[in-house]
Amino acid sequence: MQGINYAKSKVLRSFLSQHLKCIRSCSTINFIQNKIKSVTDQALLGGGQKRIDEQHAKGKLTARERISIFADPHTFTEYDMLMEHTCTDFGMEAKKYPGDSVVTGHCRVNGRLVYVFSQDFTVFGGSLSSTHAKKICKVMDQAMAVKAPVVGLNDSGGARIQEGLDSLAGYADIFQRNVLASGVIPQISLIMGPCAGGAVYSPALTDFTFMIEDTSYLFVTGPDVIKSVTNENVSQAELGGSNTHTKQSGVAHKAFKNDVDALLNLRYFLGFLPQSNTDAAPIIPCNNLSIDDIPLFDSIVPKDSSEAYNMLDIIYSLVDEREFFELMPEYAKNIITGFARMNGRSVGIVANQPKYLAGCLDIDASVKAARFVRFCDAFNIPLITLVDVPGFLPGVVNQEISGIIRHGAKLLYAYGEATVPKLTVIIRKGYGGAYDVMSSKHLRGDVNYAWPTAELAVMGAKGAVSILYRGKENVEVYEEEYKGKFGNPFTAAKRGFVDAIIEPASTRRRLCQDLEILSTKKIDNPPKKHGNMPL
Ligand code: HXC
Repeated sequence: MQGINYAKSKVLRSFLSQHLKCIRSCSTINFIQNKIKSVTDQALLGGGQKRIDEQHAKGKLTARERISIFADPHTFTEYDMLMEHTCTDFGMEAKKYPGDSVVTGHCRVNGRLVYVFSQDFTVFGGSLSSTHAKKICKVMDQAMAVKAPVVGLNDSGGARIQEGLDSLAGYADIFQRNVLASGVIPQISLIMGPCAGGAVYSPALTDFTFMIEDTSYLFVTGPDVIKSVTNENVSQAELGGSNTHTKQSGVAHKAFKNDVDALLNLRYFLGFLPQSNTDAAPIIPCNNLSIDDIPLFDSIVPKDSSEAYNMLDIIYSLVDEREFFELMPEYAKNIITGFARMNGRSVGIVANQPKYLAGCLDIDASVKAARFVRFCDAFNIPLITLVDVPGFLPGVVNQEISGIIRHGAKLLYAYGEATVPKLTVIIRKGYGGAYDVMSSKHLRGDVNYAWPTAELAVMGAKGAVSILYRGKENVEVYEEEYKGKFGNPFTAAKRGFVDAIIEPASTRRRLCQDLEILSTKKIDNPPKKHGNMPL
């Protein structure tokens, strides 16, 4: 009996112990689940409903709302939702928010992987703690490892003041990653609120910076500091608003009306880019596959070569579906840069704009185009260059003394080092050094066409004659002689500086065919650590 009882009690004890374990583990699971739910709920609310309402009242969305618009539905996977700041000073131990002041992770945009961080202004004004920086660095590291773009949605009061140096260290960790990722994966910054102090340098290191019209601003030193140092009165908007940066400073590439407009445009924009420097941009089948002739081109250039026309009219007719994503449309308008597709392939377009400064190259235009050319070259996007350039812009203070030599050389350098397919069409003027610069045959242009309206010369007839026949009478005769020799593309064609003089109407067809042929182009520059471009 004893033995049986003992056995029975042994079984009972074992049963009870198993059961208790189960009960215990069930309650542990419940406890953990409840805990996760409560912390997750807290994280989802960021700095709380009141601050969310304040954010909305300013016309801004929250960090999470922004991601939900940017990402394909149900594709956002969040990292580090429970990470908290580690600051123990200034009573910060008592003020912790799960996830701290940034939401990070990855998502799909039109089915393609994108890493994203979205700063949460409702938590300590989106300020950057060391935890915040670690979260951003983690997604940047992963993006580099798997080779996918990183998009930053910026809305931050800058360095977390309570953390002092740790916050600065966090910024530097991000800057270092921005530099290493440059030319490897596309990096895009969307400024959706404040971005001040040294914090501006992460967006500045990325490939593209977009802004929101009335609710975003970027400056290194704010209005108060400026007032105290230089006694100048300036508002935040004047100093660093979207007007300033898209029209005057050239810091930002484009501004959008509001958060939703910007996020939808960002989704569209990503479609032109490859995932990394080892990929090609996606080919998007064109609904209107027509590569028929475009008769408009036969008459678009005015007979009088000093008369302006709108180069954008040519671009829109040349590209698929009349879709052209222009970058920096309000800055250095004498040159046009942007992305489009030709028969489904992404191309970077650079074009002189005769409507502004007669299409001359100046400092701003050179820098604007050089950076764009370098992006396209780094990311395997063929370049199409449309030329109508009367030369470099003359000017004492604004150009020569301000360094047009150094800045103009940037564009020359960028084209010269680019190894992607380079297709050039000389529409009208190709004068002087600017002719060389604008993706000429001499800079390894793959395909260089001229329209019959092209004029390739050292300078315009008037200027040339005034030098050659100074003080002579009847200079008109010499002008005509000069025009007869250089006011057409034949001399260049005879020398092989243009591959063909083409019917303007055939331009799209030819370029589409050339892009197809050049899709397997592979040339290398001499091995070097890096070049020393004239910065
Ligand atoms: C900690 C901050 C903060 C910051 C804002 N907050 N910025 N907390 N560190 N840098 C907090 C505020 O105390 C406030 O908390 C909440 O965020 C919302 O801020 P408000 O001032 O109420 O909002 P608003 O009126 O919209 O003004 C936004 C702002 C302003 C213009 C950004 O907050 C501001 O000027 N912040 C400081 C900006 C700054 O100087 N940052 C440091 C730059 S130097 P409560 O609890 O009161 O609501 C820098 C160096 C980086 O960043 C160097 C990298 C190399």
